Amino acid sequence: MSQSKIERRTFITGAVAATTGATLTASSYGRVLGANDRARLGIIGPGGRGQELMKEFVKVPNAEFVAAADVYTRRFDEAKKIAPEIKTFNDHRKLLELKDLDAVIVATPLHCHARHFVDTLAAGKDMYCEKTMTWSIEEAESCLAAAKKSSNRVIGVGQQHQSAGYFIDARKWVKDGLVGKVSSVESWMSRNTPRGKGQWVRPIPEDCNAQNVDWKAFLNGRSNRPFDAHKFINWRLYWEFSGGNVTENMVHQIGWIIGALDLGVPTAAYMSGGVFSEKDGREVPDTISATLDYPNDLVVSWQSTFSNSRFGLGIRILGSDGTIEWLAGTTDMVSGRSVSGWSYSPEKTNRTNGEAIKGDAAGENHYANFVECVRSRKEPNASVELGYRSAIAAHMANLSYRRKQRVTLETARQVAKQ
Ligand SMILES: NC(=O)c1ccc[n+]([C@@H]2O[C@H](COP(=O)([O-])OP(=O)(O)OC[C@H]3O[C@@H](n4cnc5c(N)ncnc54)[C@H](O)[C@@H]3O)[C@@H](O)[C@H]2O)c1
Repeated sequence: MSQSKIERRTFITGAVAATTGATLTASSYGRVLGANDRARLGIIGPGGRGQELMKEFVKVPNAEFVAAADVYTRRFDEAKKIAPEIKTFNDHRKLLELKDLDAVIVATPLHCHARHFVDTLAAGKDMYCEKTMTWSIEEAESCLAAAKKSSNRVIGVGQQHQSAGYFIDARKWVKDGLVGKVSSVESWMSRNTPRGKGQWVRPIPEDCNAQNVDWKAFLNGRSNRPFDAHKFINWRLYWEFSGGNVTENMVHQIGWIIGALDLGVPTAAYMSGGVFSEKDGREVPDTISATLDYPNDLVVSWQSTFSNSRFGLGIRILGSDGTIEWLAGTTDMVSGRSVSGWSYSPEKTNRTNGEAIKGDAAGENHYANFVECVRSRKEPNASVELGYRSAIAAHMANLSYRRKQRVTLETARQVAKQ
């Protein structure tokens, strides 16, 4: 099935689900939380990331989990280990019918995000949706439109680097005019695994079978077929369910760059690469070189490899008056030690008296920020607009890779409609 057909089918399924829940109107359940009221949270998809999120959110003062929904029975016990009192559901719509629920965390595989996003808003709940916000451009447009219609809801996305000290400092340095004209940003993300063991490949639990998994609900509109435990657990490796490393990791870094420099969506994208590290049947590339053109003379590049981790992860904002560098786990070439941190270095050519700055902002707890916004009705640090812009950049890059040609924003939007 073509990508656009899957998109339409998936989205229609989601939209129908949202509208048939006739009692789920945006105004039904919204309650105003007082300073001492506990924020009641639900989660859809308490798998690997979902359980990490539960552990983070239970630490936030005055927040508690009341429910979890998943299509795999194993997750109920796992989620109850973190929040023993929760109700569990095998269908997310049942969770959304709960009245005693203020906000929903969506941590399902990428191809289910749009459906859970739309249904959650239709049920009148606030929402924290994991990145990437959607699986496709068409879904990103529809989710943004749904968010605008539900403008009384608080929506945050799982791009936690937007709350970090290295984001707060970088944004301030840019706003203070320390970098001058920025025409180039370089970024990269690299990992390694032992030979024969592909990045992201997870073992299949013994109880992962057709009896314990609602396979059709997982497929979410993709063509029906017999249960496939490997694809259910390792959905990240396949285009039908995933956008590969671009939607797993580039999205975090591009979001950070978009936020720091106040960027919109790219005008064009080009991406090359392939499955070079482990040819284990995966479809999504492990080796990537992507460039994104932005208005006003800016090119952002992002590179990734899964066969060498020496230079970890990093971003360099290269301006006429200075450079902002954020490094995480990069190995210093001279000392051999791992380097992390963020800093500003002046370009003496244009800022003769400029001084280097070592970043030290404390940052904010991303999860507490979301809960705080559920109370205050403010916009979370990682907003739906940020989620949308980052998603469009990621999907344009993937589209270019799959079409083997440079893709403009116009082409990307046309392809999404086909
Ligand atoms: N922000 C971050 O740093 C970060 C880190 C890792 C993963 N993620 C994101 O979190 C999401 C989940 O990734 P993961 O590694 O936890 O995947 P996972 O497969 O471990 O977990 C997904 C869970 O969703 C459930 N599920 C599948 N279809 C469902 C449906 N239709 N309804 C309800 N539940 C359903 C699965 O049974 C599973 O428990 C992805 O979007 C991923 O990109 C974000």
